[in-house]
Amino acid sequence: MNAATTTDEAPPTHPRSAAAHRSRPGAVTERTTQYETFAVTPLTPHLGAEVDRLDLSQPLDDGQLADLHRAFADWSVLVFRDQHLDREAHKRFGRYFGTLHTHPMNYSRDGDPEILVVRTTANSAYTAGDGWHTDVTCDAIPPMASALYIRETPECGGGDTLYADMYLAYEMLSEPMQQMLEGLTAIHDGAIPYVGSYKSTPPEGGYPRNEHPVVAVHPVTGRKVLYVNSGFTSHIRGLQPWESRSLLDSLYRMIATTPRLHCRVEWRPNTLTLWDNRCTQHHAVWDYYPYTRSGERVSVLDEAPPRGVGD
Ligand code: SIN
Repeated sequence: MNAATTTDEAPPTHPRSAAAHRSRPGAVTERTTQYETFAVTPLTPHLGAEVDRLDLSQPLDDGQLADLHRAFADWSVLVFRDQHLDREAHKRFGRYFGTLHTHPMNYSRDGDPEILVVRTTANSAYTAGDGWHTDVTCDAIPPMASALYIRETPECGGGDTLYADMYLAYEMLSEPMQQMLEGLTAIHDGAIPYVGSYKSTPPEGGYPRNEHPVVAVHPVTGRKVLYVNSGFTSHIRGLQPWESRSLLDSLYRMIATTPRLHCRVEWRPNTLTLWDNRCTQHHAVWDYYPYTRSGERVSVLDEAPPRGVGD
C-alpha cells in the first residue's frame, strides 16, 4: 500500500510550494483582468493594475462605469496612461465615484476648491505626501478615493509613488494582534502634516481632528483593513502614551518595510492614477530634486465615516 494513503495527516509543505502560498494571508484567488469593456495589466497580483484602452476625456457609458467600479474594487489602484484631460474631464472622472472633496489646506487658496495642485520644483520646501499616509484621515468623513493626474514628470527620472495594501497588512498580523486592534480607535490629527510638516497656518478653529477605528471594514468588499497611518494618526485611545507610541511605530515599520505589501506607480506625462483610500496607503517619493514634477488631484468624499468591526 502506498505510504501516503495510510495516514490522515497532510504532508508537510515546502515553504515555497504552491500549497504553502495558497494558505498565506492575502493569497490571490478571485480577481479578473478581463472586464466586459476593457482589460487590465496587474502591477502585482494583489494591488494595482494598468487599465488598457479607456479614454477619460470622453464621458464613460454605463458598461464602462460598471467595469470601472469592479476593477477599482478588485485592484484598489488603477493607472490610466496617455490621458488628455482638462479640469472638467478630471472632475467628471472623480464624480463617477461621488461628491468631490475640498482639501482642508485649500481654505485660503485661490482657484478651484475641488482641485489640489501637486507641484514640486527646486524651490519647494516639501513635496506633498512624502511619507506613508492615507489622504486626509483627519476628516470626520475622509475621502474614499483620490485621482492624481500628472502632466509633467522629472526629466531625469524618479518621482514614483508607492502604494501599500492595507487588506494584506491586516491579514499578515497574528490573530491575537488582530483581535486586540479590532476593539480600538485612534485619533487622526490634521495638524501633524499640515502644521508639523508643511508649516501652514491653520484655519480658524484649527485643522480637523477625528477618531476612527484601528481596523475598519471596507464598505464595498466587506474585507477588514488596518486603518492607521503615520501621516495623521497621533495616538490610540485608551492606551498609555508609551503603549500607543510603540504599537503605532511597530505597525508603521511593518507597512514601510514589508515590500510584499507594495506596488509602485512609475509616472509618465499624462498619466492618471486612481487609488482607494479605504484600503491603501501611499508615499510620494521625492528623489528628483532639483527637477520638477507637476499635476493636479481630485478626491472623492465617502458617504459615511469609516466603519469598525461589528459597527
Ligand atoms: C498625495 O496625494 O499624497 C501625493 C501623491 C503623489 O504626488 O504621488
